[in-house]
Amino acid sequence: MPSFADLRCCDGLHLQWHEEPGVELHGLLAGKTGLTVRRAWRALAPHLETPVTLTPDQWHVLSALTNPGTTLALQEDALQHALQELLAHALVVPARPNMPAHRGHPADQEWWPLAAVMHRMSRWQGVDSTHASVRAEVLDMAAMTARRGPMPTASPATDATLHALPRVPADDFDALLARRVTCRNFDTSRSLPSELLAQLLQRTFAAQGQVRMRNGALLFKRNAPSGGGLHPIDAYLLVRDVDGIRPGLYRHAPLEHALQPLPAPPEGLEAFARRAVSQQHWFAEAHVLVMLVANFPRTFWKYRRHNKAYRVAILDAGHLSQLLYLAATQAGLGAFVTAAINEVDIEQALDLQPLADSPLAVCGFGWRSGLMTTTEFDPAGALWEALPAHE
Ligand SMILES: Cc1cc2nc3c(=O)[nH]c(=O)nc-3n(C[C@H](O)[C@H](O)[C@H](O)COP(=O)(O)O)c2cc1C
Repeated sequence: MPSFADLRCCDGLHLQWHEEPGVELHGLLAGKTGLTVRRAWRALAPHLETPVTLTPDQWHVLSALTNPGTTLALQEDALQHALQELLAHALVVPARPNMPAHRGHPADQEWWPLAAVMHRMSRWQGVDSTHASVRAEVLDMAAMTARRGPMPTASPATDATLHALPRVPADDFDALLARRVTCRNFDTSRSLPSELLAQLLQRTFAAQGQVRMRNGALLFKRNAPSGGGLHPIDAYLLVRDVDGIRPGLYRHAPLEHALQPLPAPPEGLEAFARRAVSQQHWFAEAHVLVMLVANFPRTFWKYRRHNKAYRVAILDAGHLSQLLYLAATQAGLGAFVTAAINEVDIEQALDLQPLADSPLAVCGFGWRSGLMTTTEFDPAGALWEALPAHE
């Protein structure tokens, strides 16, 4: 065990005061409410998958390490025990210079620590967002309104100083926008021509032009904007049903506009598709799923420990997803995007390093079904009323 003086707290350590309500059976049986609140300090750090609840002794050790003047009123064995636990979680690390503060990829060091913690802790593994209790919670609007009050919405503007704007006559672009409806009903009875896959990838993810800078760096342009022009988002594909393309996982290479095959997920493609989108089967049935994976070192090369860098990467993913929606709609296809994804499972299937390359969203596209089994939002009937009836 290293001596106390040779240790320090890990990089990016955040302490959070956590209160967790619960129910205690003994209290209930004794005729009381049984309601309890567990309170504790929790340690969050970029290298942890989940927060670590601290014991009072561990909290004292961390506090003493960050306040060198503090006297630590702990028995030797209690101190050693607390230190051992903190070392095991790498919340405390050797103080030697050049010693990496936490395990992982070198890119971990370039994160703005709060963003790293947020990203790491908000990743899911094995979550089923379609589970009845989860869906009942958010889909029962009446119960939610009763509990939370009326849903906040854009309030009608009644101010006399309003400057009214003209309604410009709709043209083809408006018609295209109106047909962009998140697709939750794919036609699994027919495959997608590979030309359509190629067209959508070309319009959304492929480089539209490249410039070699004097310093050797290669800048490329896409049809969507990108913070710093860095294009950190890579498109990883799960091809389910496309003519002439073997079902499997691929990475789209934007400069070459080509598909690089990747090893198949051990659980099989269909099971992985469902897992990726947290069991939302209405999305897993798309002909192609596109995992939008941020390559953070690309962003951090320019925006080092920058408090906007993470936001920029997420916004990039949003722009690409909207572009994919429009390209798909124009081609007569349906598209979707979801952030309810199992990032950890996707990272494992694609063999990605969590804080270096990480999925931010999953999109997809394919032929629409003429039958709406899962609800879609098309209040004006711009799409569904125009769709041919399902045989
Ligand atoms: C970031 C983001 C995440 C979304 N996640 C989900 C999701 O998990 N499941 C789902 O069915 N739809 C999801 N959607 C689709 C929205 O529900 C949809 O955009 C919204 O209801 C409006 O419908 P529209 O896209 O047809 O206009 C998501 C959309 C966005 C932009």
